[in-house]
Amino acid sequence: MSFANKVVLITGGSSGIGATTAVFFAKEGADVAIVGRNQTKLKKVAEECAKNGKTPLVITAELSSADDIKRIVEETVEKFKKIDVLVNNAGFAVAGCILDGKVLDAYDAMMSVNVRSVIQLTTLVAPHLVKTKGNIVNISSIAGKKVTGAAYMAYNVSKAALDHFTRGAALELSASGVRVNGISPGPVKTDFFDNCAIPVTADALSTITALKRVSDSEEIANLILYLASDKAKGITGSDFVCDNGGLLI
Ligand SMILES: NC(=O)c1ccc[n+]([C@@H]2O[C@H](COP(=O)([O-])OP(=O)(O)OC[C@H]3O[C@@H](n4cnc5c(N)ncnc54)[C@H](OP(=O)(O)O)[C@@H]3O)[C@@H](O)[C@H]2O)c1
Repeated sequence: MSFANKVVLITGGSSGIGATTAVFFAKEGADVAIVGRNQTKLKKVAEECAKNGKTPLVITAELSSADDIKRIVEETVEKFKKIDVLVNNAGFAVAGCILDGKVLDAYDAMMSVNVRSVIQLTTLVAPHLVKTKGNIVNISSIAGKKVTGAAYMAYNVSKAALDHFTRGAALELSASGVRVNGISPGPVKTDFFDNCAIPVTADALSTITALKRVSDSEEIANLILYLASDKAKGITGSDFVCDNGGLLI
């Protein structure tokens, strides 16, 4: 699955699924732009990409900032002159319930990063993808299909919104030859739980899956590369669940 001469923009490229995806694309010959906030982690991922392929463009940006999002696209196009693949992977979760009065703050914060930034990036990147007949992969969650717990209901809402955006964008952009797909992981062993101060480990969540295991970020990255490749040329508006059977139980 060669991505030689392809330019891939990945949000959340500093950690977990996005970091592994960046290295995998670099291994396949792509020019990669990685976006994140944690400079130490970005540097580590950039070194890993360079070891396996080309040195990536590193963009430090806050995805709740509309100006930062404009800069992400400007810097990527300035450096690589085009964009073939957009991976909207960055996301986070924060707790907030109706009765504790925190659900609205949680909703606003997560809709801004998990959904609004995706819509803005898609809007800005789409003209470039129309030129390259490129594609988009959005990283959702099984939380978009199943309410995974009252405390994280706004996270579930944000991922459900993302799923519907994926389908709507796929429908609109299909006329321009641009594919848009989603991936919905179940629990994945990344820094997500620490980063989001969720008091559980990914491994502990193996009990909520049918296969009694959780995924590693390589499994999700492989699926991202497949959907971004020509092998998936007939797939658009789809959501690929990779959850060890979590939705079955
Ligand atoms: N891990 C799981 O169990 C799981 C399950 C289902 C779905 N997902 C989804 O998979 C995606 C990747 O998660 P992960 O597991 O790889 O988690 P992770 O290791 O915590 O990585 C999240 C990435 O998103 C970036 N990010 C978060 N908020 C940001 C913001 N406001 N501005 C800029 N960047 C931001 C982080 O950047 P910095 O660290 O540099 O700030 C980091 O690179 C997310 O959309 C998540 O919802 C994860």
